[in-house]
Amino acid sequence: MNHLDPVRHVRGESQYVDDIPTQRGTLYAAVFESPLAHGKLLSLDFSAALEQPGVVRILTAADIPGENQIGGIVPDEPLLAEGHVHFRGQPVALVLAESEHQAQAALAFIKVEIEPRPILTDPRVAAAQGELIVPPRTFRLGDSAAAWSQCAHVFEGVAESGGQEHLYIETQGAYAYPTEMGGVRIISSTQGPTAVQRHTAHVLGIGMHQIEVDVTRLGGGFGGKEDQATTWGALAALGAYVVRRPVKLVLDRMADMRMTGKRHPYSSDFRIGLDADLRIVAYEVTFYQNAGAAADLSPAVLERTLFHATNTYFIPNVTATAYSCRTNLPPNTAFRGFGGPQGMFVMESAIVKAAEALGVPASTIQRRNLLRENDLFSYRQPAEMCNAELSWDTADRIYDLEQSRAAIAAFNAGNEQFKKGLSVMPICFGISFTKTPMNQARALVHIYTDGTVGVSTGAVEMGQGVNTKIAQVAARTLGISPNRIKVESTNTTRVANTSPSAASATADLNGKATQMACEVLRERLLQHACNEYTLNYEGLEITNEQVLAAGVPADTIWEKLVSSAYWKRVNLTENAHYATPDLHFDPTTNQGYPFAYHVYGTAYTTVTVDCLRGTYAFDAVQIVHDFGESMNPAIDQGQIEGGAVQGIGWMTLEELIYNEEGRLLTNSLNSYKIPDLYSVPRHMPVHFLDTPGHPRAILRSKAVGEPPLMYGIGAYFAVRDAIRAFRPGHEIDFSAPITPEKVLLNLYPSAVPAPVAPVVVSAEA
Ligand code: MTE
Ligand code: HPA
Ligand code: MOS
Repeated sequence: MNHLDPVRHVRGESQYVDDIPTQRGTLYAAVFESPLAHGKLLSLDFSAALEQPGVVRILTAADIPGENQIGGIVPDEPLLAEGHVHFRGQPVALVLAESEHQAQAALAFIKVEIEPRPILTDPRVAAAQGELIVPPRTFRLGDSAAAWSQCAHVFEGVAESGGQEHLYIETQGAYAYPTEMGGVRIISSTQGPTAVQRHTAHVLGIGMHQIEVDVTRLGGGFGGKEDQATTWGALAALGAYVVRRPVKLVLDRMADMRMTGKRHPYSSDFRIGLDADLRIVAYEVTFYQNAGAAADLSPAVLERTLFHATNTYFIPNVTATAYSCRTNLPPNTAFRGFGGPQGMFVMESAIVKAAEALGVPASTIQRRNLLRENDLFSYRQPAEMCNAELSWDTADRIYDLEQSRAAIAAFNAGNEQFKKGLSVMPICFGISFTKTPMNQARALVHIYTDGTVGVSTGAVEMGQGVNTKIAQVAARTLGISPNRIKVESTNTTRVANTSPSAASATADLNGKATQMACEVLRERLLQHACNEYTLNYEGLEITNEQVLAAGVPADTIWEKLVSSAYWKRVNLTENAHYATPDLHFDPTTNQGYPFAYHVYGTAYTTVTVDCLRGTYAFDAVQIVHDFGESMNPAIDQGQIEGGAVQGIGWMTLEELIYNEEGRLLTNSLNSYKIPDLYSVPRHMPVHFLDTPGHPRAILRSKAVGEPPLMYGIGAYFAVRDAIRAFRPGHEIDFSAPITPEKVLLNLYPSAVPAPVAPVVVSAEA
């Protein structure tokens, strides 16, 4: 079955927030943002701005009827700045005007006085000053301190990974209308409709039942709209509530890039110990997460870094500690992988550090330490139905590591200017929200009297294909064509108290709830068939819209069955609730069984570096991936390709630069570079690992959204490998992204001039 949306997308029929026809009387909102990264708010002067044409009202924290607070995990984030500003781009006031242009134009007339305070941008400096979002966390297995003495080799180092802009094609936005009886209806580009509902109700000081949030689809989220869509939904709703007119707020690209948080940059220290057989005996790692100015989802992201600190390896003695450091950057947030990639990058850096020092291929250490069945993760969950070795060995069989390496060595021997590099990146990713209670979902299924079906769940379609999968589940369970199924918008009045669409678990959670509701409806209809047509209930089924009795077509088809059930007053609506079984985790001991299952895979990345220019191109990323029994191979392959390319971008091209004043210098697409058609690997085969899947996965089809991003980590190590082919033995910092500029500086280290004072860009954005 094809993804349901692309035809509508290419025909321009898909509706995003900015496409919704506006109601008469709509006001347009523009956000006045803090021009400084830290300071005391002394005064705001709107007098000139209020006189600008079309300006209707300017709202500040003082206009918030409820509590000025939108922090999800820690209540540390005001919707509109109050007293102090903590990052550049922090919303301070909301201008409402008759047109978008008028609202934007008025911003320049607002005067603000801020008394500057010291600005922190470096997480290690923040940690040294005690600026932590939450107390540090440590995951422990065995006794690493005692294990160093058993190690034949011990290496240590530092690894840095940068942030990443989500760059969803649809920027953040919302359209809010006042409803009768003092409520608000919000059309929001959010992964978390309930989060928008909950925080807006809190900000407005009214019940959640007064707020309806509706989401048709997103033009991408990638984690950036898991928590951070709330600001824009709540601001639009505040305007609509106070002024009693519809309010539309859609950020332009540069405002979105300036004001929203991104993937967390991390700076980390590692120490790895191996025995004489290259088994990793001990690993210690300390992560400094740059959380930005408020908690947002940082504590949860931090925790997932710890869950994935040892990637897909079994290490008997592990101590992993993580600090969430408060700085004066926009609060960083969820981004595909949710802290996992940052942890895995350090693990791979440690292995490569050891391999280079010992003169062995990193792959030797990687292969020798892969997880095996029932090996424990540091959080004590065993690796069950473990496919780490299977995915590695399958990749080796079909892509041939030794042969690939020999071909590269031959190429490198015959080329001066161009050098190739190769890396192997095995991955393991835990599926479930790490916060156990979030692993629940509901579905509401209506069968209409003509036999068509409407399905509502908490799942948000953001391009990942979840609506298609839900339609497949409903069609398969009911025994009817997917053409009869409509997956409805995600609406908080139809399905309440939803977890965000995130953690790659959306299809599992909402698909299982859909399956349960459809099973009940199917059994109810079969019971009706049995009464109505005096058939034996045993052996009754619906296949291809035909009722079969013991495999023989009975005299009734789907439409007739539904219609007759209606006239016999059979309930054609069902609501089901699914909660992932068996999960538990104790955050005080950091032990438990947090994940429904793990997803495994292996990627070989081959790159060619132009050693004159420092530029590079990826020849191939060859993947073996553990899909289980993929229920939709086309969608799933798309997720692998997109995820891997997004990971390559994070590791190679995408460089976020904030200056010391906390200002984002890479604030548009001409200074922030993401992979384009030309930087996508030329060759990207995806091999579907042959496994039985997992019973906790929907239709045994494993979650696929986030894991492939981590194949992109291989890109960093492949480029590094090529640099070392040009300059054998050269020590290269474990610092991503490895941009062409950094490649060049590593190719010609002696040509690097002494550092000069950084150029301060002074033009306003
Ligand atoms: N794919 C597309 N096209 N657009 C997106 O925004 N988000 C990713 C991934 N794949 C995303 C995507 C992220 S961060 C997650 S958590 C999952 O999809 C969420 O959807 P799922 O749970 O249905 O996999
Ligand atoms: N993944 C993604 N989003 C989340 C998680 C998680 O584990 N926990 C809370 N939000
Ligand atoms: Mo994805 S980072 O869990 O939205």
